[in-house]
Amino acid sequence: VSNRDQVTTAVAAFYDELPFNYGETAQSAAAIVRGRNQVESTYPDLDQVLRRQVSSLLDVGCGAGWLSHTCSFHYGVRTVGIDLSTTAVLRAREISAALELDALTEFRVTDVFRHETSETFDVVVSLGALHHTADLPGALGIVAERVAPGGVLYLGLYHAYGRAPFLALFEPYRRLEAAGVLGPDDFEAALAMYAELDNRTTDRTLVRSWFRDQVLHPHETQHTLREVAGLLEAIGFAVASTSINRFEPIDDLNELFELEVGYEESARLALEVERRYVPGFFTVLAKRP
Ligand SMILES: C[S@@+](CC[C@H](N)C(=O)[O-])C[C@H]1O[C@@H](n2cnc3c(N)ncnc32)[C@H](O)[C@@H]1O
Repeated sequence: VSNRDQVTTAVAAFYDELPFNYGETAQSAAAIVRGRNQVESTYPDLDQVLRRQVSSLLDVGCGAGWLSHTCSFHYGVRTVGIDLSTTAVLRAREISAALELDALTEFRVTDVFRHETSETFDVVVSLGALHHTADLPGALGIVAERVAPGGVLYLGLYHAYGRAPFLALFEPYRRLEAAGVLGPDDFEAALAMYAELDNRTTDRTLVRSWFRDQVLHPHETQHTLREVAGLLEAIGFAVASTSINRFEPIDDLNELFELEVGYEESARLALEVERRYVPGFFTVLAKRP
């Protein structure tokens, strides 16, 4: 068994137990999608793309599907979501039904490395998924092939500098979990510490699902814009916008490579001084030049 397959098996089991962003009920998740367009408020560059002539979107590592649902519900886009976790995909389908989106959405249980298809999509998105594989370059090559001519690839990944303070904060618990000796009291203490930082919701299942994903994950990697820009260039894509400079136009990528180093200090200040929730995530919108 390759390292890649070992990671896939561990990650699938982890999310089958409790997927990420998984609330008490499908209805509550549907209400969140209906109530607010979270792409518009969080990812303005993706919002701009979706407002144009976009008819199809592939969501790689879709989890319970909030992004697919949002794109179908708020932009009328036909979406296909793929994910390793059966539990996540079943919930994604339930939420689709609650939103009456069954005609626009399709969810498949599959490993991105084994997704057999020749379809291409106007937009291929992967938020917070590829850093849970053992092979980011390989995964990027595969997802890029699904982008239609003139289409867009949109990635969200943990940032090497921006993520460091969050990991450091939870390091003692992460070490216990990795050694397989995190007891119930430590689990609850870590969960309470997490919930104090991230108090966006009172849905206890949802908080627990975020906490496990953020703190107790069996496999995550972190990356930089510099690294991702290089990987994208190698497969014929170029960075068009990024959260690193808050989605502003890019004059010179090298300036952003310098800017991103400062992400560690700003994340540390936000977490330790302001006690703000900073998971250390960044996004990249890429196109074929
Ligand atoms: C942190 S969750 C993000 C889910 C979703 N993109 C979101 O934003 O809510 C990561 C997801 O990636 C999926 N995933 C990880 N490795 C994968 C792989 N090799 N193939 C398909 N999905 C994968 C996991 O099952 C999990 O649902």
